[in-house]
Amino acid sequence: MKIAFFDSGLGGLTVLSEAMNQLPHEDFLYFADTLHVPYGPKPKDEVRKYILDSIDSIIHEEIKAIVIACNTATSLTIQELRGLYDIPIIGMEPAVKPAVEMNRSTGKRVLVFATPLTLKQSKYNDLVSRIDNLHIVDSLPLPELVEYCEALCFDKTIISDYFLGKLAPFNLDDYGTIVLGCTHYPFYRSLLRELLPDHIRIVDGSAGTVKRLIQVLSEREMTSLNGSCRIKFLNSSGSAEYTDKMKRALGLLRNE
Ligand code: DGL
Repeated sequence: MKIAFFDSGLGGLTVLSEAMNQLPHEDFLYFADTLHVPYGPKPKDEVRKYILDSIDSIIHEEIKAIVIACNTATSLTIQELRGLYDIPIIGMEPAVKPAVEMNRSTGKRVLVFATPLTLKQSKYNDLVSRIDNLHIVDSLPLPELVEYCEALCFDKTIISDYFLGKLAPFNLDDYGTIVLGCTHYPFYRSLLRELLPDHIRIVDGSAGTVKRLIQVLSEREMTSLNGSCRIKFLNSSGSAEYTDKMKRALGLLRNE
């Protein structure tokens, strides 16, 4: 039985790659909703339906758990999905809590990068109100970065100009941590690292999500010992070309 990973497109591969490192004896299924990527700029009700349809289309595959490797999809549907299916469903949310903890004593601020849709949801805003009692968290939507990633655009000049433009209104000396709150963004982590001052830490939710996955599998005695990181790639447009793209993108992450 495989562990399924779901995202609108290539972003969830950043979480899958972490799972491959930590769970080498599991096999995986990766589903991308290529017909509807990107989710971030679209209306909530429309995206909710795309997510439900996507999960419905993979539930009959041989899967034992699903990782919603998408912050946007988690913020819209995680409770609903858990009510619909019996298998464990692991979601992810921007790593605001560890970021705030890191800066509690430094007096620096936290900047959360995420999709516009994630940032609009009560799930995200409730999380921030619960944790940010020092009022140090700011948010920045970066929808275009999802598009660059889907086009496999890693051109240093284009992406650096994009980041520098978006970050221009912020005084980076005030910030201690940047949270990558969309699973597409870690594709640009090393480039971002080069652009940011050394004192800014970059965090994302992949390791925490995989840790939770391992915990859930072990609690239910579902951990596999005889898999070998085989991956079945699926996408909602049934495109063989996109399957190649997913393999290329995963290859980039694995070779980093
Ligand atoms: N990768 C997704 C996330 O983590 C969604 C990106 C998109 O489709 O806009 O939020």
